[in-house]
Amino acid sequence: MPNLTIVGAQWGDEGKGKAVDYLAGSADLVARFQGGPNAGHTVRVDRNTFTFHQIPSAILYPKTTCIVGCGCVVDPYVFEHELAVLRKKKVPLGQRLVVDRRAHMILPYHRQLDQLRDDQSAKQRIGTTGRGIGPAYADKVNRTGIRAGDLLSEEAFNDKLKHNLAAANFLLMDRYKAEPIPFKATAHDYWQATRRIAKMVGDGSRTIEDALRRGKRVLFEGAQGMHLDIDLGTYPYVTSSSTWAGGVAPGTGISPVWLEEVVGIAKAYTTRVGLGPFPTEMNEADATHLRELGNEYGATTGRPRRCGWFDAPVVRASVRHNRLQALIITKLDVLDSLDEVKVCHAYRLRGREVGDFDPFHAVEYEPVYETMPGWRQKTSGCRTFSGLPVRARRYLARLEDVCDCPIALVSVGSERSQTIPFKSNKLRWLRAP
Ligand code: GDP
Ligand code: IMO
Ligand code: MG
Repeated sequence: MPNLTIVGAQWGDEGKGKAVDYLAGSADLVARFQGGPNAGHTVRVDRNTFTFHQIPSAILYPKTTCIVGCGCVVDPYVFEHELAVLRKKKVPLGQRLVVDRRAHMILPYHRQLDQLRDDQSAKQRIGTTGRGIGPAYADKVNRTGIRAGDLLSEEAFNDKLKHNLAAANFLLMDRYKAEPIPFKATAHDYWQATRRIAKMVGDGSRTIEDALRRGKRVLFEGAQGMHLDIDLGTYPYVTSSSTWAGGVAPGTGISPVWLEEVVGIAKAYTTRVGLGPFPTEMNEADATHLRELGNEYGATTGRPRRCGWFDAPVVRASVRHNRLQALIITKLDVLDSLDEVKVCHAYRLRGREVGDFDPFHAVEYEPVYETMPGWRQKTSGCRTFSGLPVRARRYLARLEDVCDCPIALVSVGSERSQTIPFKSNKLRWLRAP
């Protein structure tokens, strides 16, 4: 049985939630392997919109086991909110949602430290989501973190919290001249807030491995995007986890030898939230136009997303690092009304043309564009490749060419049904189970 890894091929918000929801119809198990409530994955089914931050986007399928992997960081307050939405919509959960006991917890002071460090006026501002991601991962690597497994003993939890809070309060008071966080109220509140999640704590790694051994269909859901990766992204304007396919093994606790197919999700154009280099970023007027057409506002923070043309070297770098077998192109419909569309196939760097995206030079790149005629026809109702306007098909064919990767699916709307299998699709995952 195949397993499939889904990664964002750009800077996040590519439509991973939509893609996971579409592809997970035949999955037995879906696991998130990194990130936390910085993610906002939107799933739209029958006019109902769900935004998943930490719970895998496949949770709407009543029989699919969903794992929050050991590489994730979990904010129990956000988690509770996500559970409440599911309860309200009567999505049955039973025992099928498991939080790996090794996943690290986000504490209220992580959030506060993140926001203080990334204050508007801060010199090293990144424009984070302010969800405490960096400080929580920093504690993990510093070996002082609190893990989901620690939520099973109040005494052990209190011990760790006492120790960690002392360090956090030192930073809060000494560096940021902020009020210290009180131990007693924090411990009490957090313990109460985690009683439901504590019942879901388990050995995610073993559950995933058992499923793989039994030949089940397993899907790994990436968050953020390749170029926000802590090692390979546009550092320091990145998130604090391994967002590429290389993050699956440490983020779930299974051997990398299990992994089979890897698919990259890319928008038919490019967006980015937060600071950092963005070679194909549009001028303000064009960006505003595209932002309105594509409703490009953050699913987690509501921030307007920066918008630009399709950057092929950026996606090509994702194809290369991840060895992507296929791309899923989303939001093609957003370009429907444009007279012309542009594709950046290379950059000019100090008088030379270069084809590779190198994050070390990203701020210097001037995009080299080719311009193609727009199709000026609605695609949101199309359901077959042959039903797409000829010019849209040519645009997609050009994307395959410049990205050096076949397209498996094209998305023309946020609903599950607005998805078109592409002519060159060879994914084993998409063959009937
Ligand atoms: P993710 O973080 O990668 O899951 O992406 P987000 O959910 O943050 O952002 C993608 C947005 O685009 C969501 O509002 C989706 O509902 C929407 N979306 C996904 N695919 C399509 C598409 O093909 N067309 C349009 N118009 N919207 C889409
Ligand atoms: P999904 O999974 C887009 C960006 C932030 C900031 C940087 C670091 O929905 O695609 P962090 O809070 O992680 O420390 O912020 O990363 N970022 C995202 N951008 N989509 C996301 O998630 C993101 N998660 C983080 O805007 O630039
Ligand atoms: Mg998102």
